Amino acid sequence: MVAYYYIRLRMDINGKYFKSYLEREDAFKKQYNAERIKKQHSKGKLTAHERIALLFDAGTFEEIDAYVTPLDLGVDFGKVEKSYGDGVVTGHGKIDGRLVFAFAQDFTIMGGSLGIVHARKIAKVQEMALKMGAPFIGINDSGGARIQEGIASLSGYAIIFNNIIQSSGIIPQISVVMGPAAGGAVYSPALTDWVFMTSNTSYMFVTGPNVVKEVLNEEISSEDLGGAEVHARKSGVANMIYDDEENTIIAVRKLLSYLPSNNLENPPVAAPENDTPGVNERLRDIVPDDPNKAYDVRDVVNLIADRNSFFETSELFAANIVTGFCRMEGKTIGIVANQPKVLAGVLDIDSSTKGARFIRFCDAFNIPILTLEDVPGFLPGKDQEHAGIIRHGAKLLFAYAEATVPRITVILRKAYGGAYIVMNSRGLGGDFNYAWPSAEIAVMGPDGAVAILYRRELAEAKDPAAMKKELVKKYRDKVANPFIADEKGYIDEVIDPAMTRMKVLSAFSALSNKSVKVPSRKHGNMPL
Ligand code: HXC
Repeated sequence: MVAYYYIRLRMDINGKYFKSYLEREDAFKKQYNAERIKKQHSKGKLTAHERIALLFDAGTFEEIDAYVTPLDLGVDFGKVEKSYGDGVVTGHGKIDGRLVFAFAQDFTIMGGSLGIVHARKIAKVQEMALKMGAPFIGINDSGGARIQEGIASLSGYAIIFNNIIQSSGIIPQISVVMGPAAGGAVYSPALTDWVFMTSNTSYMFVTGPNVVKEVLNEEISSEDLGGAEVHARKSGVANMIYDDEENTIIAVRKLLSYLPSNNLENPPVAAPENDTPGVNERLRDIVPDDPNKAYDVRDVVNLIADRNSFFETSELFAANIVTGFCRMEGKTIGIVANQPKVLAGVLDIDSSTKGARFIRFCDAFNIPILTLEDVPGFLPGKDQEHAGIIRHGAKLLFAYAEATVPRITVILRKAYGGAYIVMNSRGLGGDFNYAWPSAEIAVMGPDGAVAILYRRELAEAKDPAAMKKELVKKYRDKVANPFIADEKGYIDEVIDPAMTRMKVLSAFSALSNKSVKVPSRKHGNMPL
């Protein structure tokens, strides 16, 4: 207070202080002139300040370090614009009333390139977010390391990467890519928990089209090399993509609404949807009688979860497994579900890694997991074996078994072989395992089992097709039958599908004080 009056006094006595304050504010405003803004808008992009305004609750964002200027490194190569803020907006504000820290790179200033001051600004808010236990959001729109600053900018990236890694599993970290992210700079988003991209205006690649041309003599556009579609469908780097920046930012806010601010808190509880029936007979008709017929497992999720609460993550990547957050009586639940509609819900490399990463996120942030299982097994073949399905499938096993949050499985239909074990089976530490009457649980599918056990008999049979049909039926009735698993205690109960929500709610309620003591160790050694 004393300091405040002292400053005011000095301003009043000597007008020059007040004048320079206003002049600086004026220069700051001029920096973001109409021409710069127009240039950014002409690329279909919003400015850093506009993005921040959309992201935070109105009027809550406090910018810090707005007046810092780039460091003069005394290097005579290219010009460094003496801008305020050094090409990045940083600060804190509220999202749905909760504290969040963020940066937004400003492409209008030296292409949003990252110099050491720019990096220090980001590092400062990262470190504050960690100390305060608040989520961190980075909006990326940058030409990467500032060429003029050489090693100083590289070291800036190293500090940022290190901060992300130190905060991992402590605060949720979200990256939003709304422009270029090229070279090693891509690892800043890649290290965070969630990556959002906007279609047509954002791209990420370690080496750009020019290098690809030079080294491999291949022509490829930025969009085809590392656009939003590519990363959402093929590489899995982008978890969510949207057509424009406004919808991208709305989705970021929505995702945050499911998450706790840090690993010591529970996720926020929304007002419960009282109109979701605990007993829903429509669930009895979802799984077709013919085991070879597909259905959309998201229909099951939507009938179990609070109405309209399902937020699917990584929807376009490895669609044979569905992951996402929903709410049950207002509480956040992580969903992992095999998707019979895509590749019959088989587990392959991509679906294993997608599932594993999702489970680890839920476990880090106290989000209980509901697994809906209908999986014929692992995808066979040379491509998968040679690309390491053993190593990658092991990640899913590892992630489930190390997760200490409440874990419930409902077997809807197929649960065969290693895939049965992987999908949160009882032996792997699943807390409650239920099965629908349509469940088929066994070492392998009926066709494979009959072919192995009755090879000779089938070869000698007069009518092998009829014999096989009969044996398959017998196998389904006598072996792959959920009531047998129930009687032997491998599952907790065969339930009426209509009662699933009620059963799951009751089980999660019983697990609400679950506490698991893990023996002290530095960390497990997940097969990466
Ligand atoms: C300094 C840069 C810059 C950079 C862009 N600019 N990238 N300045 N360092 N890395 C400047 C441009 O000189 C230009 O300044 C302004 O930003 C806008 O750039 P344009 O090229 O006019 O824009 P556009 O045509 O939209 O192209 C954007 C771009 C291109 C594709 C990003 O600028 C580009 O290819 N930049 C280099 C990308 C790159 O390879 N970065 C290094 C990656 S390696 P004026 O004054 O004309 O407005 C890296 C290492 C990280 O980042 C290591 C981490 C471990």
